Amino acid sequence: MVGLITSLLLSNVTFACNSNSCSPNSEPTKGFNVKWFSYELNDCETYKDEEYMCSGYLEKTPYHSKCGVNTVNFKTGFPCNYNQENDEENFICECGCSGENTGWTCPCAPSTVSDDHTCYNSQKEVFNASYVYEYETSVTNFTMELTGYFKAPEAGSFTFNLGETDGSTAVFFGKNAFQCCSQDEVSVENPEIFLNGIKDHENSCNEKSIELDEGLYYPIRITFANAYAYSSLVFSATLPCGKVIQDFTEYIFTFEQEDEHCPASTTSSIFTSGISASSSILTTPTIDSTTTTTNGWTGSYVSTYSTKVSVSTDRKSTRLNSSH
Ligand SMILES: *[C@@H]1O[C@H](CO)[C@@H](O)[C@H](O)[C@H]1NC(C)=O
Ligand SMILES: *[C@@H]1O[C@H](CO)[C@@H](O)[C@H](O)[C@H]1NC(C)=O
Repeated sequence: MVGLITSLLLSNVTFACNSNSCSPNSEPTKGFNVKWFSYELNDCETYKDEEYMCSGYLEKTPYHSKCGVNTVNFKTGFPCNYNQENDEENFICECGCSGENTGWTCPCAPSTVSDDHTCYNSQKEVFNASYVYEYETSVTNFTMELTGYFKAPEAGSFTFNLGETDGSTAVFFGKNAFQCCSQDEVSVENPEIFLNGIKDHENSCNEKSIELDEGLYYPIRITFANAYAYSSLVFSATLPCGKVIQDFTEYIFTFEQEDEHCPASTTSSIFTSGISASSSILTTPTIDSTTTTTNGWTGSYVSTYSTKVSVSTDRKSTRLNSSH
């Protein structure tokens, strides 16, 4: 009897490891999840604090949330009382201003009755409006978190950019954003900041490029805080083909948190379920999704894992070569 040589090729096995991308099995929904947290009006220190922007804000309970948000591009405004004689007369100043107290100027728009840019109210007051994702809140003072998975439509170098940011912003990417399948329960120790728009931060960096693999999902988390008056945030990405996007409809996704939505089989369970190295009779390994352990959806790179099993019955030996 001649030796029986059989080769097996297992492909697209997802590995559990601590990497920047995720490959979920469930169906995503489109857009970022947004959560609002409190911020004390006129507290001009906390939002400059890296620890607060990285995770400190999570000690609070969000007071509102919204899903399906496809852009990270907004501007708020603050009322400018342009008539010193009548404090009822105002317009909304939609830009950053110089000066904080009475007599500040609105550089982007003059009074509606003269060329004067002076505003006779204080910028230290609370102002509620629905400029940010149509949700009415105190736009002068709030903290916000956006989370989602960026799906790379093609392999290559992607550039992410923070444009005008007024207030304080930090962007986290991959495992620094959140663990795979934990979008709703962010818990990352000492995350590395990917783009730094933290107010007055000396290591600020508003643009960075990164190599991504096609079809994988990369966690992204953006934190934002405003302490008083006007605020703005613009986030964009440049695809490998050069196209600049601000509308993330086809690029940012959200996955359900529940375990049943993110099953993933691990390599060790595949080996134990089918191949026995000491057996001369080759059984076809089966990947039984009901018995393999689930593990969030393994973070992970998806890689082609080829396993070559050669069984020679006359020498009663088995060789197992694996490479990945
Ligand atoms: C903003 O400040 C006002 C005035 O102190 C406060 O009532 C409000 O709750 C604050 N908003 C947030 C989101 O923390
Ligand atoms: C303004 O917004 C804050 C935060 O969302 C809220 O607590 C407060 O009740 C609002 N004030 C008014 C007058 O609607």
